[in-house]
Amino acid sequence: MPYNSIFSTKSLIENYRGLCVVVKQKLNACLTVSFKNRRQYRYTKPSTLRIFSLMTKPMIKKHSKAPMSAIEALQTRSSSPRLTEPGPSPQSLTYICKSALRAADHGMIRPWRFLIVEGDSREKLGELFLKASLTKSPNLKPQQKEIIKTKALRAPTIIIAIANPQDHPKVPIIEQEYSAAAAVQNMSLAAFALGIGSVWRTGAFAYDAIVHEGLGLNKDEKIIGFLYIGTRSSAAKPFVELDTTDYFKAW
Ligand SMILES: Cc1cc2nc3c(=O)[nH]c(=O)nc-3n(C[C@H](O)[C@H](O)[C@H](O)COP(=O)(O)O)c2cc1C
Repeated sequence: MPYNSIFSTKSLIENYRGLCVVVKQKLNACLTVSFKNRRQYRYTKPSTLRIFSLMTKPMIKKHSKAPMSAIEALQTRSSSPRLTEPGPSPQSLTYICKSALRAADHGMIRPWRFLIVEGDSREKLGELFLKASLTKSPNLKPQQKEIIKTKALRAPTIIIAIANPQDHPKVPIIEQEYSAAAAVQNMSLAAFALGIGSVWRTGAFAYDAIVHEGLGLNKDEKIIGFLYIGTRSSAAKPFVELDTTDYFKAW
């Protein structure tokens, strides 16, 4: 997304979080900023810049390490099971999607594809979950039906990661599925580094034939995960720092 478009008032609000990252980048002048973007920054009106710094000050303080270093994100990532609006800005979503595409990929097969479910499409997904549930349990009560439908409303943005394996003489299907899983982890890490919450879920719907059909999967494809993305609505649970020596041994 060009920086000049996020400098408009409307998208300033929409891209609040993304902006914080961008402004922090500018203020620290520590990350790669293209020549074009530098020019746009230089030509931004001083008053606009003052508004940015006022708006981003609390966020920068809260996420004082935003954008978080890769090492910090890798060592501290946690899931956000409770998510709310707003979803990621278009720019943040692009960063998240691009991170998926750098997953390790034996043979460069690109054995994955992704569906982004946002807005009203989430209601369609909820209906699909319900259809799948009714096939197995036709006598669901109205309340149970509602609970099932709202599963698709648990976050403003859902990315459905699909393993799309190809026949390959050297790369077995399982490795291609690992690659799709690595893509989900990359997205989760990218979101976390941007200060955006996410949680990787599967559950019965990920393996349901009706859900697969409704989402347009072919017979070889698998759902690797639903990555729910949004604003963390509860405090991060403290994670237990594991001891490397319990899991890594010299051999
Ligand atoms: C393949 C896969 C599927 C998962 N499915 C679910 C799920 O359906 N529901 C859930 O609560 N957590 C699920 N998780 C676990 C969460 O994403 C998360 O990792 C877990 O709650 C631990 O939290 P943490 O990531 O903050 O350590 C899944 C994880 C993986 C790797």
